[in-house]
Amino acid sequence: MSGKNIKSVLLAAGKGTRMKSKYPKVLHEILGKTLIERVLTAINFIKQEDIYVILGHKAESVKEFLKNNNYENINCLLQEPQLGTGHAVFQVFNDFINFDGTVIILCGDTPLLRNETIDLFLEKHIASGSDLSILSAELENPANYGRIIRGMEGTVIKIVEEKDASQAERKIKEINSGVYCIEWQKIAPAFLELNTSNSQGEYYLTDIVEWATNKELIVNAHNIALEDEIFGINSKYELAVATKKLSKNKIMQLLSQGVNIVDIENTFISPETIIENDCTIMPGCYIAGDNYIKADSVIGPNVFITGNVEIGKNNTVTMSKLSNVKTGDDVTIGPFANLRDNVIIGNKVRIGNFVEVKKSTIGNNTNAAHLSYIGDAELGCEVNIGAGTITANYDSLLKLKSKTILKDNVKIGSNSVLVAPVTLNENSFVAAGSVITKEVPEASLAIARQKQTNIEGWVDKKLKQKEDKALSKK
Ligand code: UD1
Ligand code: CA
Repeated sequence: MSGKNIKSVLLAAGKGTRMKSKYPKVLHEILGKTLIERVLTAINFIKQEDIYVILGHKAESVKEFLKNNNYENINCLLQEPQLGTGHAVFQVFNDFINFDGTVIILCGDTPLLRNETIDLFLEKHIASGSDLSILSAELENPANYGRIIRGMEGTVIKIVEEKDASQAERKIKEINSGVYCIEWQKIAPAFLELNTSNSQGEYYLTDIVEWATNKELIVNAHNIALEDEIFGINSKYELAVATKKLSKNKIMQLLSQGVNIVDIENTFISPETIIENDCTIMPGCYIAGDNYIKADSVIGPNVFITGNVEIGKNNTVTMSKLSNVKTGDDVTIGPFANLRDNVIIGNKVRIGNFVEVKKSTIGNNTNAAHLSYIGDAELGCEVNIGAGTITANYDSLLKLKSKTILKDNVKIGSNSVLVAPVTLNENSFVAAGSVITKEVPEASLAIARQKQTNIEGWVDKKLKQKEDKALSKK
């Protein structure tokens, strides 16, 4: 789309009453990304400086969210009160007063829109020399969408909202997706003439279509959107349906690419997740956000991945939760492991059952096979963490977290506590049941527990006492 002057307006001020939520509609998530992020992805070829998001209901929280999620250069405009979609676009009027180019208008609640479709739509808008283009779709069930009314020879006359439509108009299957391209200087005057004489008493954006046809401007509806992608989210039910649709499309793509997915119905995978061939995804996995899973890995059953996870080749991850984790090749995780907040794991590592790892690095060939907490730690290569080992990384009085460093080839006996900050040097050993508070030198054994004493004849002595007591009672 080079050479063209393009800006975009994204409508996101509505209350989303039907969501029945304390959160703004556009901050609801589908597979790890909010609705607004998903729509923004569809227009990622437009510079942030040229995108105008119209906010209203809970504007501050949406603005804050955008700022904290790499959208700090987007323009946020406040629509207060919210008098309809036409009134929403009107908010850019002053900013665009000297703008001579194309404006793409989208709604914040259509998260399945694809980049390719917006691209093609813009291409068709330009190629047809239109002043106003509508992205439309044919739906088997067009209920609740605005209908495209065409006249003789198929030219677009207007859009009628379902609530204002006649019986005959409701039978029309071509619907308005809520995405438009307009030549701003030609269409802008329409926004000064919108009125609220309709069943909802709102300024309808859709009324700019009839205004333009009356002015004999060039108006076209491009029926190129897939049924799925124009799907608008107005309720929690529709959010669930959209989640399923998005995941299913991804699963179909992965299957045809050569990934084994055992159960199509009970697997959720975000569109952003890359999975290499010959991986197997077992039932019950929920994989959200941006992830990369390399070849021959087996994920699941029941693995919950929340994003920023990179899994190396030939890993096995079973019944576990992973968030912000990177693993090398030939790693085994789970069952029932919890890896989170920046965990970096080398090759041939084993993280076993009931092991939690937080913000730590783990070297090649290291094992923590059972019942451990490893937090704020650096583990070298060939380290062995005995069952039940805990890094005591948190000072709850000073609210301070400290580091535990285990150099190469350190072996920790079962049920030990490593009180941070502490360093265990190369080739050192810790005896089972120790509480380690001081640095352990290279190649030495640290024992920090009560020395064992054996009391010989203790059982016989006790039994004798019991007998004597019984006799004296008679
Ligand atoms: C709208 C269209 C309809 C189309 C459908 C596609 C109108 C009048 N109707 O209907 O033709 O088929 O989208 O999904 O435009 N918003 C604001 N400010 C407001 C009102 C709404 O920013 O004052 C935003 C909402 O946050 C939402 C978008 O505009 O993101 C669409 O509003 P919504 O009320 O959902 O419109 P629909 O009834 O779905
Ligand atoms: Ca809607």
